[in-house]
Amino acid sequence: MIYKKFVRPLLFLKDAEETHEQTLSLLSWLGFFEAALEALFRVEDSRLEVSLGPLSFANPVGLAAGFDKNGKAIAVWPGFGFGFMEIGAVTAQPQPGQPKPRLFRLPGDQALINRLGFNNEGAEAIAAKLEALRANGGPLKIPLGINIGRTKVVATKDAAADYLFTFEKLFPYGDYFTLNVSSPNTPELRDLQQRDHLDTLLAVVQTKNRELAARRGGKEKPVFVKVAPDMDFAQLDEIIEVAESRQAAGIVATNATAFLREKLLTKIDEPGGLSGEPIKALSTAFVRHIYIATKGRLPIIGVGGVFTAEDAYDKIKAGASAVQILTGFVYEGPAAVKRINQGLVELMDRDGAKNIRDVVGSQA
Ligand SMILES: Cc1cc2nc3c(=O)[nH]c(=O)nc-3n(C[C@H](O)[C@H](O)[C@H](O)COP(=O)(O)O)c2cc1C
Repeated sequence: MIYKKFVRPLLFLKDAEETHEQTLSLLSWLGFFEAALEALFRVEDSRLEVSLGPLSFANPVGLAAGFDKNGKAIAVWPGFGFGFMEIGAVTAQPQPGQPKPRLFRLPGDQALINRLGFNNEGAEAIAAKLEALRANGGPLKIPLGINIGRTKVVATKDAAADYLFTFEKLFPYGDYFTLNVSSPNTPELRDLQQRDHLDTLLAVVQTKNRELAARRGGKEKPVFVKVAPDMDFAQLDEIIEVAESRQAAGIVATNATAFLREKLLTKIDEPGGLSGEPIKALSTAFVRHIYIATKGRLPIIGVGGVFTAEDAYDKIKAGASAVQILTGFVYEGPAAVKRINQGLVELMDRDGAKNIRDVVGSQA
């Protein structure tokens, strides 16, 4: 309430990206207060625990990729009650992204349009930051996912080597990795969703995964594939097949859409990825399709338009083992994750579900 009535109107007065960067800088300093934030925002309830293959999360609500691209506020995210966090997209080379303005709010539609274009500090700088964090603070409080994108100047034919560079650099630090082949803002990136390209990419990453695990005497890291909502189910089926045959850990569904503008109330003509409320149903349909096609074998992280506990519950009932939020966090504010987790417990009580794992795919 306080956020929506008093804080959000002030934050929304300024340019969207400027506000975002200032908020992140402030949050990076809040690391000291993480424990105090936890007391305010974390919901501890064993019924919320989920697992996706080898990964275990204390609750199913994660921070989606793109909010903290450079891992600036990693120490703070557990304080807001997240069960896991995904940083990035990280690319092999540092890059500035597209010209500004490139992030737009659509409050009338509870949506954002972004065409940031993978602005980030690059794999080496982010690896150094994660190394320093580890040296200072030991293990992170919640699992860390790292979203990997393709450097803009690298051609599709050289994409695999580019992803591999980032994967290798960041291998020691991520609890899981997501191959982002679905951002609408890097030219030809989505070509990597085509069967042959994706198969090559996953093959080389998984080979490196095994090699690095053996060299370090540890386990392979779970590797997810993140898909766009802008394809038909026949193409999605091809991705599912490749993901299963290359032992991907699961699918993150979905990224923002390059289309769907006809649904908007806001008059805006800006290219980029549309996220938030307008993509909610579409991304849930993708989750449901993947769950049914794989008979629940392949873990799914559902993302797109989650604002409330009901939204998260719908994605979980459709087959997601966990969800992520980004636009919902911008609109709902710091208590968003707490409200979702509390609401999930209430919905489970209402439905007589013993734990959230039993809800996964219950209405697929
Ligand atoms: C500002 C912004 C930046 C994003 N950057 C990334 C990114 O770097 N990598 C990625 O996989 N997805 C990125 N996304 C997509 C989100 O992770 C998410 O898939 C999408 O926004 C749908 O979720 P939402 O409706 O909760 O925002 C970005 C989204 C926004 C709004």
